[in-house]
Amino acid sequence: MFNFTFHNPVKIVFGKDTIKELPNLIDPDEKILLLYGQGSIKRYGVYDQVLKALKGYKIVEFPGVEANPEYETCMKAVEVVHKEKINFLLSVGGGSVLDATKFVAAAAVYDGKDPWDFVAGNPKAKIKGALPLGDVLTLPATGSEMNTNSVISRASIGEKRAFSSSYIYPRFSILDPMTTMTLPERQMINGIVDTFVHVMEQYLTYDVYAPLQDRFAEGILLTLVQEAPKVIKDPKNYNVRANLMWASTLALNGLIGKGVPGDWATHMIGHELTALHGLDHAQTLAIVLPAVLKHQKEQKVTKLMKYARNVWGVTDKAEPETINAAINRTVTFFNSIGMPTQLSDYKLTPKDCQPCVEKLKKRGSKLGEHENITYKEVAEILELAA
Ligand code: NZQ
Ligand code: ZN
Repeated sequence: MFNFTFHNPVKIVFGKDTIKELPNLIDPDEKILLLYGQGSIKRYGVYDQVLKALKGYKIVEFPGVEANPEYETCMKAVEVVHKEKINFLLSVGGGSVLDATKFVAAAAVYDGKDPWDFVAGNPKAKIKGALPLGDVLTLPATGSEMNTNSVISRASIGEKRAFSSSYIYPRFSILDPMTTMTLPERQMINGIVDTFVHVMEQYLTYDVYAPLQDRFAEGILLTLVQEAPKVIKDPKNYNVRANLMWASTLALNGLIGKGVPGDWATHMIGHELTALHGLDHAQTLAIVLPAVLKHQKEQKVTKLMKYARNVWGVTDKAEPETINAAINRTVTFFNSIGMPTQLSDYKLTPKDCQPCVEKLKKRGSKLGEHENITYKEVAEILELAA
């Protein structure tokens, strides 16, 4: 196992009717910027619950954060923070609203010229602080509620980039599974697939003898495989919703990835597909993951065998068949919950994705746990995803 440091300071408040805990989590003297999306929280009563809980607080609202949050929108929120002298940010919504909030928290106190520099990974652009933030999460998927990451898009230059800083950990995250009951099926499935792929990016690499992390990962995958059909059949089942929500958080709160290698090639390629073609985040992952596994079979052989055995119960076949079976079972699982897995499902071809390859070439990207996936391999992976 590799050396590691693990420090996760996020207070999780989990369960039914937990939005009313807000006054116990935010100081009454704070002036709050309440960020939210395109209206789901108003339609489904979450907004009312938040305002009721925070009665008497000084609140300025910032609605309109879009899915795949835009840099320009976030910069408008930064202006409001300065103008209104905001000192606490509250995100109410899915991962996009929360990622936008994290960006605003860091950008509002950034001492460099342009906060885009830290998003784009300019080595001179250092985040040295952030405003405090908290969130009420309404969509289990990203793990953003308990991690240091944020993903920001900039359509004007065709970019979608992830950045990370320990300063942007939420101070608290309220996870009330009741809020997830109103999710459209597409978003619910997106959340399951995103969670699945977060686990795979940390588990399906090479073996460093970390059986506990492997068991954590397999536990989350098995839970998803078991609970996903149930939530589709019985979307109002609170316990199923609760288990899926907690699985999403644990998939990307840092724990299962400690001491083990990380892949993240699927995510990096997926972000480019979203930036270019506007597919949902999870839709891109479901296309790219099976192709990455096929392409990297040899490098991932030990873990693929373990995955086949411990997640899919494939024990009776020779090695190549076992690996193919594990990849096929993954595809079948995604398809069974209504998630397509090929570019052609979106009327796209590998040729349509060539600009993604060019972008990774220009950036000199070396992806995957062995950093052996350059733009050339990305082109091959996209062919396998046709
Ligand atoms: O905007 P509103 O009206 O709120 O509607 C949203 C949005 O249209 C709707 N929604 C959210 N909660 C709902 C609901 N509708 C009904 N009932 C509810 N309870 O769902 C739509 C999608 O929301 P969004 O926040 O975009 O989805 P998600 O949570 O999947 O976030 C996706 C973003 O997170 C990034 C992705 O790249 C993408 O930009 N990621 C962030 C990560 C992180 N910070 O660690 C890691 C991930 O890998 C991912 O890259
Ligand atoms: Zn993801």
